[in-house]
Amino acid sequence: MSTTSRRRFLQQASSAGVACSASLLFGRSLSAHPASEPVRIYVDSKRTIAPIDRNLFGSFLEHLGRAIYEGISDPGSKLSDSNGFRKDVMEEIRQLGVPIVRYPGGNFVSGYNWLDGVGPKQDRPRVLDRAWNSLNSNQFGTNEFLAWCKAVGTEPLMGLNLGTGTPEQAADLVEYCNIPNGTRWSDLRRKHGISEPYKIQRWCLGNEMDGPWQIGHMSAADYGMKAADAARQMRDVDPSLKLVACGSSGPGMPTYLEWDREVLEHCYEYVDGLSLHRYFDNAETTGGDSAKFLALNLSMERQIAETVAVCDLVRGRKRSPKKLWLSFDEWNVWYRERHGDAVNGHGKMAPHLLEEIYNLEDALLVGGLINSLVRNSDRVKLACLAQLVNVIAPIMTNADGLFRQTIYYPYSWGLQFARGAALNLLVESSTYEVPGFEHVPHVDVAGTLNSGDGSVSLFILNRDLSKAHELEINWEDHAPTRVLNASVLTGDDLKASNSFQTPQKVAPQTFAKPAVTGSRTKSEVPARSYTLLQWSM
Ligand code: AHR
Repeated sequence: MSTTSRRRFLQQASSAGVACSASLLFGRSLSAHPASEPVRIYVDSKRTIAPIDRNLFGSFLEHLGRAIYEGISDPGSKLSDSNGFRKDVMEEIRQLGVPIVRYPGGNFVSGYNWLDGVGPKQDRPRVLDRAWNSLNSNQFGTNEFLAWCKAVGTEPLMGLNLGTGTPEQAADLVEYCNIPNGTRWSDLRRKHGISEPYKIQRWCLGNEMDGPWQIGHMSAADYGMKAADAARQMRDVDPSLKLVACGSSGPGMPTYLEWDREVLEHCYEYVDGLSLHRYFDNAETTGGDSAKFLALNLSMERQIAETVAVCDLVRGRKRSPKKLWLSFDEWNVWYRERHGDAVNGHGKMAPHLLEEIYNLEDALLVGGLINSLVRNSDRVKLACLAQLVNVIAPIMTNADGLFRQTIYYPYSWGLQFARGAALNLLVESSTYEVPGFEHVPHVDVAGTLNSGDGSVSLFILNRDLSKAHELEINWEDHAPTRVLNASVLTGDDLKASNSFQTPQKVAPQTFAKPAVTGSRTKSEVPARSYTLLQWSM
């Protein structure tokens, strides 16, 4: 079933999924704070939420459009190495420090036979991928992906086919990847030239199985039982695996939360995490209202809270000592390249699909979404920006090079600076009204404390489209000694975007280093901005 059907499904309850109360989320009323007052941020190094798992800033590569072929693997290119991997793309990913990459899908995985993508390349079949109506030469498969992961220094998050695939085939792939030797599938890997096992830890038990567009879509009970069976067989092969079951693919689904509950009733004891997915749009959901669009990260937080509630409900019913973590393994802005030819490969290899061009306001929301993930790092232990190259991606390539999209920058700040523990900040900000959200803070702040290098970082989204906001940062215990980094992403034109011709149109600018006086720092964030400040303590 096509992505259009997915959209229709998601529209049905989109308003329900979006509505939420900021005061409810932040546990206190923000409405009384006058706009004339500075935004007050209280930082107490003893008040932390949780250690941040590095995998909170993962990403995703699917056999879709030009993500793999042309984006990652382009054997004929002057820019590729002897493996056919694009060197410029590898350098970007290394520099970003992406900790984990989900692969090979997405919708693609639900019709994928992993055996088609291993062994001598000349023997691999060319197959029609029915999820995206595209041709897959299978020249890039599991071993190529794992070699690429090693080369860029990232960990794989392997997706399994629980659509057309069976639990037995899932366990076979684990055996192929993780057993040293002496069994049918491990010996096949060795025959394919890989003597050492990969020891892959994290696996996704299927993809969006709640969606009628998904190949092999089934009921929650059927999926829950199939996931439990796959998990048992996989753990028989390797007991150390960390497994993620498919949760709802978004709050717009008619089965939202009920799917999650029923799935977990069947497989709670066999899995470690539950997945969530979400794509934000600035059309149907917002009617193009940028002020509303920039509030949408609050609805991500509501989705997390609701999903956590279901996990803990099932935990209680089962009297289980185990607490599940969440894997937000697809999230991004995506709404333009979502219809017609943008999602239909017409039977071609590497078609231009989902090539969303991001603007400044998309990047600001991505900053807000990073803030939301940081604030929820007690339960969200893994998350993937969907996706990484060419397909709804921060990096776009052509035959001559690449450019960084606007969303690259907030993502790279999360990767570089959100380290250590998430801070439980107290933030007093004026608010504005968005129907369905009640009071939305003009300024949204997340913070981290890295006791390893003694640094504190603040990530500040100013949603106010017309006004700068003064900040007053109150250091409740330790005042910082000096500013290490200060950058801002802003501009006059919310619709401005980067391209091969103008790659730096939207890029971070230096932000005036704020001075610390006693236990207080004063500063000002411009209208329509996302700011990173990092201090050493
Ligand atoms: O990331 C693009 C697609 O969005 C994925 O294939 C699917 O899981 C989701 O619907």
